Amino acid sequence: MAFPSLFLASALLFTSFWCPTFALQLPAHIDGCIHLPVIHSTNVEHFSIKRGIQLQLANRSDVAYYAQLSIGSPPQPVFVQLDTGSFELWVNPDCTTVTGSDAAFCDRAGQYDATQSSSAVSLGSTRTLRYGIGSANISYFTDTISLVGSPNALQQVQFGVATASEDAFSGILGIGYGQDIATRYPNFVDQLQAQNATRVKAYTLALGSKDAREGVIVFGGVDTAKFAGRLARLPIIPAAQSPDGVPRFWVTMQSLALTPPNGVTTVYSAGGSSNSSNSNNNSDTPNDMPVFLDSGSTMTLLPSDLTAAVARDFGASAPDANGFYRIDCGLTALNGTLDFAFAGTTIKVPYKELIREVASDPPACFLGIMASERFTLLGDTFLRSAYTVFDLETNAIWLTQAANCGAAPAALNTVQALSTITGQCGGADDTASQEPPSSTVGNANAGAATTAFNQLLMNDF
Ligand SMILES: *[C@@H]1O[C@H](CO)[C@@H](O)[C@H](O)[C@H]1NC(C)=O
Ligand SMILES: *[C@@H]1O[C@H](CO)[C@@H](O)[C@H](O)[C@H]1NC(C)=O
Ligand SMILES: *[C@@H]1O[C@H](CO)[C@@H](O)[C@H](O)[C@H]1NC(C)=O
Ligand SMILES: *[C@@H]1O[C@H](CO)[C@@H](O)[C@H](O)[C@H]1NC(C)=O
Ligand SMILES: *[C@@H]1O[C@H](CO)[C@@H](O)[C@H](O)[C@H]1NC(C)=O
Ligand SMILES: *[C@@H]1O[C@H](CO)[C@@H](O)[C@H](O)[C@H]1NC(C)=O
Repeated sequence: MAFPSLFLASALLFTSFWCPTFALQLPAHIDGCIHLPVIHSTNVEHFSIKRGIQLQLANRSDVAYYAQLSIGSPPQPVFVQLDTGSFELWVNPDCTTVTGSDAAFCDRAGQYDATQSSSAVSLGSTRTLRYGIGSANISYFTDTISLVGSPNALQQVQFGVATASEDAFSGILGIGYGQDIATRYPNFVDQLQAQNATRVKAYTLALGSKDAREGVIVFGGVDTAKFAGRLARLPIIPAAQSPDGVPRFWVTMQSLALTPPNGVTTVYSAGGSSNSSNSNNNSDTPNDMPVFLDSGSTMTLLPSDLTAAVARDFGASAPDANGFYRIDCGLTALNGTLDFAFAGTTIKVPYKELIREVASDPPACFLGIMASERFTLLGDTFLRSAYTVFDLETNAIWLTQAANCGAAPAALNTVQALSTITGQCGGADDTASQEPPSSTVGNANAGAATTAFNQLLMNDF
């Protein structure tokens, strides 16, 4: 769902091209995927040669991730936030409801004018969409839509045009489940497959580290130069068994642990203190916790006790009025990780990726995790360190640590191929590499945690 930190907005630029096919899986002539390099807004080199979003966005890094769409005939370029946590596409936020630099960003994200498109059709129906932050009242249209740079336009794609919105500084491209699961009509991801732009209903997200400033989304395929080894397959928890009953990308997280620069990992345990003397004991697994993967959320949201335990280890005793834990920026230079364990893989998120750095004077730093009893979700502060394939056909998340050894996009003929695909990167994991520790471990000790997260029903999708 859309969950950006409003005062920290950013943008990425997507430029798509067709994928070569995955040599071992497909005949060479099949185009089966759309590969979009993800260029972070801080990458001046890329932004200076593109229209629309310019250097005004340079301070707004790593908060939200955007796709550029061309809507209508002739095409009108519009930036939308890429959101694995919601299901529908809509455009035209009311920029007067956001303030400061968010308003400037909002203005630059572009507006779609149906009256200027010969292929626009108004469906005459409306809906209110509510997000973790923000809402929009929309009217449904269909029109021609393409991803910028992609040769194939999708015809008659249904989406919303906002008549009013609150706290939204761009439209949103929901890439969660679509027809018959979460929507009453084929959503954008459904249409990619239905109109043969992709052969499988699956896509890969590799947002890229802050330093790389470049990531990739591949609709219908993978990029084997963004990970090492095999992918772990995690079944998506069916909506009926999930905490909020909503068909999101819920998976089971087995444990959360801290590896400070001294390399001694301590696990945050359920229900009690985890003193460092016995903290490598991970034998009890009541730590299992459903979490959903949400690119539309800047922050990772975890139960308050667990969040407080992590925050204590980062030296923060209490959140500020906005719920953010302010921490020492010096921690970003340390070679430590927060380790998210799943069946078959552990994603080690370097401190630098976990910590939100705000370019104020002096710079301010915040833990990339906030407390929430309402949602447990892994947002961009987690996803930057992960290589994730969202498989909407067999209802699985394929996951491993992100790396970066070039670009090798490849179309998938079937999602079954994901079990045999091997990442090309060497064992060394680029995104986790850090400067050597420049000081002592500091506050990084494992603390106590409980996992008494609420299982509230949500119906605001
Ligand atoms: C970016 O940040 C610098 C200081 O960090 C500030 O001087 C500048 O005005 C900011 N630019 C924008 C567009 O916010
Ligand atoms: C959306 O519509 C509802 C009911 O029609 C209304 O109460 C609400 O204020 C509208 N939202 C905005 C942002 O205008
Ligand atoms: C997509 O491909 C299938 C199978 O080849 C075909 O039946 C269908 O008509 C195609 N759809 C479009 C929109 O081209
Ligand atoms: C960072 O720590 C990991 C293990 O904790 C170690 O393998 C790695 O060599 C360290 N890197 C640096 C640059 O110190
Ligand atoms: C953990 O350490 C604290 C203080 O060092 C001590 O009081 C407590 O008994 C210890 N708990 C366990 C479970 O070892
Ligand atoms: C871990 O803790 C459990 C229960 O506290 C204990 O039974 C088990 O022996 C411990 N395992 C190790 C490796 O210390």
